[in-house]
Amino acid sequence: MSQIHFIGSGQMVEAIIRAMITHESATPKNITAYDIRPERKIELANRYRILTLDKKEDNIEAIKQADIIVIGVRPQDNIAAIGKDITKYAQENALIISIVAGVTLAQLEKMVAAKKAIARIIPNTLTDTGLGYSGIAINKRADKESVEKFVSGFGKALFLEESLIDIFTGFGVCGPNYIYYFIEALVDAGVLAGLPREMAWKTTMENMIGAVKMLELSGKHPRQLLDINNSPAGVGMHSLFALNESNFTAGLQKSVLSAVKRTTELGQKK
Ligand SMILES: NC(=O)c1ccc[n+]([C@@H]2O[C@H](COP(=O)([O-])OP(=O)(O)OC[C@H]3O[C@@H](n4cnc5c(N)ncnc54)[C@H](OP(=O)(O)O)[C@@H]3O)[C@@H](O)[C@H]2O)c1
Repeated sequence: MSQIHFIGSGQMVEAIIRAMITHESATPKNITAYDIRPERKIELANRYRILTLDKKEDNIEAIKQADIIVIGVRPQDNIAAIGKDITKYAQENALIISIVAGVTLAQLEKMVAAKKAIARIIPNTLTDTGLGYSGIAINKRADKESVEKFVSGFGKALFLEESLIDIFTGFGVCGPNYIYYFIEALVDAGVLAGLPREMAWKTTMENMIGAVKMLELSGKHPRQLLDINNSPAGVGMHSLFALNESNFTAGLQKSVLSAVKRTTELGQKK
């Protein structure tokens, strides 16, 4: 099993570590994590029984030992200094993974030494489920297989051109937000119409899961299933007419475009 070292052990890295251990794609022995916040050393060691570090010299030792080094800090943190340590101490064939939003492969190659295999990953937050695509762009030295193996511990891998990363972030990584928001709105609609909240909740969840399964099992387009469900002048057609009048589709599309725009803006601030 690869030895994986995380630099920066905040929310996203913890979600990845938790999923990897739960899905047994890595054992606690194969994971080390460094953070400048001393409390993270205690929290993560207690929760996952991994070796956690808060001293610079221990971080350097872990960098030396690692097959995979994950940069998990925020865009505004001192990534250049992390890059220097990696350049100086990492094994020649170590795979360097960055989950930092807005930092490009070209910037990483400059900071981390161009000779290294580098992957830029935008992780999906559905890590505990093992579902959800993470968007991945890799440099010439990285091989897809090793990167996919790493990502499979906390979801699915979607390799794409780096130019599509911002679009993928606003659409795919923000994706669960749209679904959570839709579920909340639908449950409220049931309550508004007079159902007790628990019934509205249970019905909505079952319909969400069932509708996705129907699409998968039947291989049909949503429009075909809508046609089957909706008879002339029926209840369903009336509900869809009201939804269309509310500009539902355009509202959703505007929301995605706005998320993509904001992703690009934040990247340009770097
Ligand atoms: N959270 C998400 O949903 C999500 C989704 C996709 C991608 N990401 C990306 O994941 C990265 C981490 O996000 P997050 O939400 O997990 O942030 P976070 O919870 O703030 O974690 C970052 C951690 O790194 C520590 N740190 C800062 N500089 C460091 C250094 N030089 N060496 C070691 N540790 C250092 C921070 O300590 P201090 O607080 O003391 O500075 C903090 O504990 C970001 O780049 C973000 O773009 C996050």
